[in-house]
Amino acid sequence: MAEAKAGELMEKIVSLCKRRGFIFQSSEIYGGLNGFWDYGPLGTDLKRNVKEYWWNKMTRLRDDVVGLDATIIMHPRIWKASGHVDTFSDPMVDCKKCKARFRADQMHEIPCPQKPSKMASECDGEKTEARPFNLMFETVVGPIRSEENVAYLRPETAQAIFAQFKNVLETSRQKVPFGVAQMGKAFRNEVTPRNFTFRSREFEQMELEFFIKPDEAVEAICGRVAVPAGPGHPGEPQPDWGWQMWHQYWVEERIRFYEEIGLPRATLEEYWQKPEELAHYARATVDLLFKFPFGTQELEGIAARSDFDLSQHQRFCGKPMTVFDEELKAAWPKLAPAKQDELRERYYQARLKYLTKAGEPAEKAAQLARQDAEGLTKGYYVPHVIEPSAGVDRMALALLCHAYSEDQAPDEKGKLETRVVLRFHPRIAPIKVAVFPLLKNKPELVKKAKEVRDLLRPHLSVFYDEAGAIGRRYRRQDEAGTPFGVTIDFDTLGEKGPELQDTVTLRERDSMKQERVKIADLVAILTEKIR
Ligand code: GAP
Repeated sequence: MAEAKAGELMEKIVSLCKRRGFIFQSSEIYGGLNGFWDYGPLGTDLKRNVKEYWWNKMTRLRDDVVGLDATIIMHPRIWKASGHVDTFSDPMVDCKKCKARFRADQMHEIPCPQKPSKMASECDGEKTEARPFNLMFETVVGPIRSEENVAYLRPETAQAIFAQFKNVLETSRQKVPFGVAQMGKAFRNEVTPRNFTFRSREFEQMELEFFIKPDEAVEAICGRVAVPAGPGHPGEPQPDWGWQMWHQYWVEERIRFYEEIGLPRATLEEYWQKPEELAHYARATVDLLFKFPFGTQELEGIAARSDFDLSQHQRFCGKPMTVFDEELKAAWPKLAPAKQDELRERYYQARLKYLTKAGEPAEKAAQLARQDAEGLTKGYYVPHVIEPSAGVDRMALALLCHAYSEDQAPDEKGKLETRVVLRFHPRIAPIKVAVFPLLKNKPELVKKAKEVRDLLRPHLSVFYDEAGAIGRRYRRQDEAGTPFGVTIDFDTLGEKGPELQDTVTLRERDSMKQERVKIADLVAILTEKIR
């Protein structure tokens, strides 16, 4: 029953998205392309607002994060170093009977194409063994189609940040701890794209790589490593923070971000990956999940990835990814010899573990780890990283699902009818304010309404609408999620007396309350409400 209701709700959302121009099937006129979606006029602005808010919050409003805009196609060795060439795959199963291909771990959720009443795992078609299927899209760079010219469309935006780490460090005058943010397209040849845009083959990511000192360096500099005292936001970053504090900080910062765009904490779930689920290099990963109508699913992952990524690139490209930390160099000689030994040994063990897991022969791993540990004593280390990684499309879908609601509103004759309304937070609503002349056949009203539109336009996204009865125009904007409506009527023209001249009604979408405000105050009132 609940499932049927959820399915019905999702159908309504998908249909609204198409009807109102949020999301269309890609290449629809040719029958569509599975796993690809286009954003229509309203969807484009919704996505743009989400990205802009993320960018401002993550970079512009901080001193310690800078931006990057790298290419989608990069040197294929990047994907070898990152592990994507060898391990970025899903287990795939073929049905020998209907030739359909499924992700092995999803067969119990996907209907059999030939017998939709049964799940793929239950139908009588014989299945192949599960085989790994690499999710990267391949392409060829240059005019010759050969193995050595194979390149990949990036499956994540993160790797470019590691590959450009040294350039950014040297040009931005940042010092660890600092972050590099990037947003842009990513491509994954998902075996079973589904749940509308939730799992697509082309999507956008917004990723931050926040580089921090290894705990051994923090301890050498500060004499201690702060760890979280309990749940919640740990406050302003401090020099003695170790990776756990930074990780918790970014989890909480990201939750605040969601709250600020209108997804309350109660709609999210924090899922701490279990030790056996973590990648071997990860120290902790928290998935932020959202309660979609089709289930509680991941919106974003916040991973403490140790120094794995930069270390991998260091090994593969042969160039040092270490930073020189003046504070560490100055602090080290002041440490008691026993403390020096302890920190050097801890760092040595951590590097040895990484190098051994990376496949270096035992002797070479020990030799390299010793060099790294000696480097630490002179102020050098490979930074560790905390990675909050979010998907724009999933975020937009979560916002649409959360915003969708139906209530009762009076029609033209005062009779209650069902109203579909997207209760977007004003910050991310595609249109902030709609401007309506009460009647379109009264030139004075139209003229004044256009003046109001032009007054507001430089400050907010405005939609001007003069077609149809005013109630219907409100309804259309409710469906688009427009938080405010401004109506220009005969009072505005001063027909009922000079005290109301140059005032308009300002209607609020959710409460449907209307107040009379001066045109001269509109910009200030609206920008304050939308901020
Ligand atoms: N750099 C780490 C990384 O890419 P991920 O968990 O694979 O981690 C991060 O992806 C986010 O990107 C996900 O939480 C999700 O929001 C988004 N994402 C991943 N695959 C996606 C897909 N096929 N369709 C839409 N969004 C996707």
